[in-house]
Amino acid sequence: MSRALISTGGGRRGEASRGSTVDMSTDLAGIALPSPLLTASGCAAAGKELDAFMDITQIGAVVTKSIMLKPRAGRATPRMSETPSGMLNSIGLQGPGIESFIENDLAWLAQRGARTIVSIAGESVDEYSRLASKLRNVGGFEAIEVNISCPNVADRGQVFACRSESAAQVIQAVRRNSDSRTPIFAKLSPDVTDIVEIADSVIRAGATGVSLINTLLGMVIDTRTLRPALAGVTGGLSGPAVRPVAVRCVWQVRQAFPDVPIIGMGGIRSGQDALEFLLAGANAVSVGTAVFNDPSAPLRIHQELAELLAERGFARAADVISYAHRPEETTPVRSAEDDGGVEDWDFISE
Ligand SMILES: Cc1cc2nc3c(=O)[nH]c(=O)nc-3n(C[C@H](O)[C@H](O)[C@H](O)COP(=O)(O)O)c2cc1C
Repeated sequence: MSRALISTGGGRRGEASRGSTVDMSTDLAGIALPSPLLTASGCAAAGKELDAFMDITQIGAVVTKSIMLKPRAGRATPRMSETPSGMLNSIGLQGPGIESFIENDLAWLAQRGARTIVSIAGESVDEYSRLASKLRNVGGFEAIEVNISCPNVADRGQVFACRSESAAQVIQAVRRNSDSRTPIFAKLSPDVTDIVEIADSVIRAGATGVSLINTLLGMVIDTRTLRPALAGVTGGLSGPAVRPVAVRCVWQVRQAFPDVPIIGMGGIRSGQDALEFLLAGANAVSVGTAVFNDPSAPLRIHQELAELLAERGFARAADVISYAHRPEETTPVRSAEDDGGVEDWDFISE
């Protein structure tokens, strides 16, 4: 396994961290990553533009924009709108199609030496199958993330991720058409009653792990034009506003599945935010919306996380994963009237 030892010495915060090192390497479904920090699909294209701001080989992996079978122009503009502590987008999966992606983007990422998680999206179960088959023939990536937050054309536009059966059908199709050694992450939508039920269905269908969460469906109305702000009317809400929802989803799925690999995301913009996701049970985290404001955010957050871990006495990032799930500690305290005997101590929760 590769090791990324980050020196955290010299920072003003935390004298305790001076000169110490934290092992930031992470095992994600058997993939050895030098960092738990990834990009989030759709917010970093295929990494080329970000590479001008940070060395993309230093983060865990680039998760590419969801690619479909055919080139796609996406939705009409306007397709982005700022919201309190977040943004709404209705890009509509604009992209060059799988052939061009493999030839240009995937080839560039391999030549650059970046680790890549390829995100795929489709309008039918068959489209997902064909995407998986094409990728199987080329290789050159670490894992597939299956974006199932897409309308199912064969089912009145119902989003695959919102129903256990359709979510499972997609994952089964991708699993069947992929190399059995390729980890498959099902990216789930938070717009469901029970995220654990959907996670259960995709895991049973062959997903190696889950990515939590995609955007929440939202809407903004422009009070000047008196019309919806987005041409597509509704859009996906992302950014810090969604973080508590995302942390809750990671927590619930981790509690139900102690060993399933989880990629957490939703509003991460600092090392502290990333730490929250690891504590909830994420094995790695993706940074999306924050990149639009700070294109070097994933690497900056990696460094901030290393500092925070050192300050808290963790030698390895892996040790903090799911740490918030540990049983409550009990600390003995003396009651006023006790005579010093251990039997007489009361116990309080820390
Ligand atoms: C502009 C934009 C485009 C996105 N495109 C995709 C996409 O193609 N595939 C996907 O799975 N998620 C997509 N997402 C969702 C993000 O990957 C991520 O799950 C979500 O935005 C929450 O993380 P964040 O708050 O850090 O952005 C997109 C998000 C944004 C803001």
